[in-house]
Order: sequence, then structure tokens, then C-alpha cells
Amino acid sequence: MTISVDILEKIVREAGSVAMSYFNNLNNVGVVKKSPRDLVTDADVAVEKFLKEALNKAYPEYGFWGEESGQSDNQTNRWIVDPIDGTHSFAKGQYFWSISVALEIDGDLVAGSVFAPALDDLYLAIKGQGATKNGKAISVSPETSLADSMIATGFACLRSYLVENNLKRFCRIAEKTTGQRRFGSAAMDLCLVADGQVDAFWEQELNLYDVAAGALIAKEAGGTITDFKGTDGVFPKQILATNGGIFKELLELM
Ligand code: IPD
Ligand code: CA
Ligand code: CA
Repeated sequence: MTISVDILEKIVREAGSVAMSYFNNLNNVGVVKKSPRDLVTDADVAVEKFLKEALNKAYPEYGFWGEESGQSDNQTNRWIVDPIDGTHSFAKGQYFWSISVALEIDGDLVAGSVFAPALDDLYLAIKGQGATKNGKAISVSPETSLADSMIATGFACLRSYLVENNLKRFCRIAEKTTGQRRFGSAAMDLCLVADGQVDAFWEQELNLYDVAAGALIAKEAGGTITDFKGTDGVFPKQILATNGGIFKELLELM
């Protein structure tokens, strides 16, 4: 079945309304720790429940994999959902968090949307058809010099005990660029690459639900998506998304 942009956008916006009903009433939102540094809020659970039901109603032929509820039967053709990417930011009342929904068919990402309800920015891509932000076509930045680049990254607070915790790489790259940013939502970081707001993004030790939709959006906007060795593809444990123009220079520093 072909995916309807309108149906996908409607479902993602409705999920945004569910999330905002909690965000606007944060004092009464339950927050528990899945592990010492990993939060889950009532909103994460409610948004995922909404998306699971709405996507299943609109597209019953596809399975579902959500961060909070896990995997359903059909994992060959499936929706991949992070109900709230940036839960720490959400729980603190900051605006930079998003809802991430991707459709994967036989291992191929074919549709994706990332919606930041507090910013009212909705990114969407269908494979082969380009990427949009709030309905308008977007493309990666034309920057070709790493020295003039603005780059986003993330530090896996959950994985800070790892020897490879990104701090050394961050220091190495920070010395060579104009600016580094840590926004707090990997899905949105990838959309910022797509929109030319940053020239590249990298992070390590993520999961597919963090990056599936954003990676498709960045790719459809003209970006390159590789691992830290430059192999094409979406590798959540080592994701490097660039505008293409600074790819080679940045790859050498990874
Ligand atoms: C997190 C965000 C963050 C990244 C973390 C992720 P969550 O997702 O994407 O930017 O640095 O590693 O776990 O836990 O808020 O869904
Ligand atoms: Ca996430
Ligand atoms: Ca999440």
C-alpha cells in the first residue's frame, strides 16, 4: 500500500496533541526511571499507545516497534516509533523534543516523520520524493568547509560508563569547527541537518527508533548517512549525517 502523506501527518500531529496535553501540565506528569539515567514519563507511554492504535487502524498490514512497548509480530514491514525523543528535555519543560515515526519495508526506510510539537515543526519524507518542513521542501546546507561548520552531536548519558563515550571525539572535532551543539533529540538533530540549520550530526550507541525517521529525512534532503568509517546506511551505533560538502573532512576526524 502507498503511504499517504496526509494520513501520516494527521496521525503524527494528533500524537503531538497527546504529548502537549502532558507537556502543558508537567507538574502532574508521572516520571519513573527505567534505569539510573533513563527516564520514562506518562507522556511517552500515552503517545506510543496512541500511535500504535492509530497506525494499526490506518495500515493494519504493518507491524509495530516502539521504544516503550517493544515489537509486534510482523517485523518485516513495520512502523518504528520513538514516542518522545528527548524525554529529559520534555520532563524539564524545554521545547526541544520530538515524536519520531518511520516505516520500514523489507529493511528499507520508505517514510518518516519527526514532529516537534512545542516548536510546531513537522518534518516529513517519503523515499524518492524529497523532504519537507511544515509542507515546504528543504535541503541540506551548501557548506564545504569544516572550519566554518556548525555541528550537532549527543552524549549518551546512559552509556557514559563506556570507554568510547564520545567525549574525546567531541573535543577533537570541536577544535576544528565554528560551533558544536547538543540539542537533546537525535531525531531532531537529523532534521536540522536536513534543513541546513547544522552542517552535520554524529552520535553513537543509539537505537534504530532514535534515528530511522530522521535519517530518511536527512537523506531525502540531500544528506549523506554513514557510519564512522563512511559506509553508506543507517547504523544507529555509529551514525554520521552530513550535508555532503564537509563529509570527507569530518570523516577523517571520526
Ligand atoms: C535520547 C535522545 C538524545 C540522545 C540519547 C537518546 P530518548 O532519546 O535521542 O538526544 O543523546 O542517547 O537516548 O531517551 O529521549 O528517547
Ligand atoms: Ca530516543
Ligand atoms: Ca524515547
